[in-house]
Amino acid sequence: MKFTALRPVRTLLALACATLAAHAAAPAVKIGFLVKQPEEPWFQLEWKFADQAAKELGFTLVKIGATDGEKVLAGIDNLAAAGAQGFVICTPDTRLGPGIAAKARANKLKLISVDDQFIGANGKPMTNVHHLGISAGKIGESVGQTLAAEMKKRGWTAADTAVCAVTFEELATAKERTDGAIAALTAASFPKDRIFKAPERTADIPGAFDAVNVLLTQKSGIKHWLVCGPNDSAVLGAVRALEGRGYAADSCVAIGINGTDCIVELEKAKPTSFYGSMLLSAKAHGYQTSEMMFRWIKEGKEPPLDSRTVGVLITRENFRQVLKEQGIRD
Ligand code: GLA
Repeated sequence: MKFTALRPVRTLLALACATLAAHAAAPAVKIGFLVKQPEEPWFQLEWKFADQAAKELGFTLVKIGATDGEKVLAGIDNLAAAGAQGFVICTPDTRLGPGIAAKARANKLKLISVDDQFIGANGKPMTNVHHLGISAGKIGESVGQTLAAEMKKRGWTAADTAVCAVTFEELATAKERTDGAIAALTAASFPKDRIFKAPERTADIPGAFDAVNVLLTQKSGIKHWLVCGPNDSAVLGAVRALEGRGYAADSCVAIGINGTDCIVELEKAKPTSFYGSMLLSAKAHGYQTSEMMFRWIKEGKEPPLDSRTVGVLITRENFRQVLKEQGIRD
């Protein structure tokens, strides 16, 4: 065999050795992504964008549905045993924060909380844990302002109208959202005594449906309803309960938050009272948190302690275009 024929083989060998050396120097990055409600479109989208980050940046992503405290703690142990260096988590209960942070430390795992900020033993947010969440109060205020504007556009009077706020106040980000909506409505002169809370026992459509049914039994004879809640599921549950009592698009305006869990609703041929939603950035919450974790592990670049994202209103008029721009729909 001639020398020239050997050259490509040598080059290949050299390349293979260099790659092996690089691998030996830096172990492959493995990141966990734990979410509290894996069945909800919002969390599926976070995972989808985290998967995209894993593919583009070159790390292994381990997705874990962590619906209760036991699953969270077992998930963290499994991640450590599998050689992961860090994880991103939306915890099923923010009061697990101190326990999760301690377990991460014990296992030498880096930690970023997403969506729901940990609550410390003193009942205050754990500001020493890196977090990416939404500007909950501001986004809630936008919901309230839009409801007030839609009421005005329809020429409804305050005497004929009431507000149904589905609440889930044990979760700080959820409380800030509905508090924000109520504050904006009262700032727009909506009477406080016509704003009614419907506390949901579980943060999902059935939980909101039950809560609003209780409210509607107590408050009969109201002509128009304005509806807000912590997220799309809460508002969808309210819309279904209102439909059961004969309220439809001509008598209610309901606005959600997330924008990802109401797509089927907005696609319905006949408009329902679900008017629109504040679309959050699932990409920032899934891709960016994973990328921050990756760079922290790989380059030692510590992420900011607190990052907040914004929301934009989507309605039946613009949702297709906006979801396309955000890479959520083709
Ligand atoms: C909470 C809610 C989710 C979603 C996220 C956004 O976790 O339960 O539906 O709104 O916040 O950060």
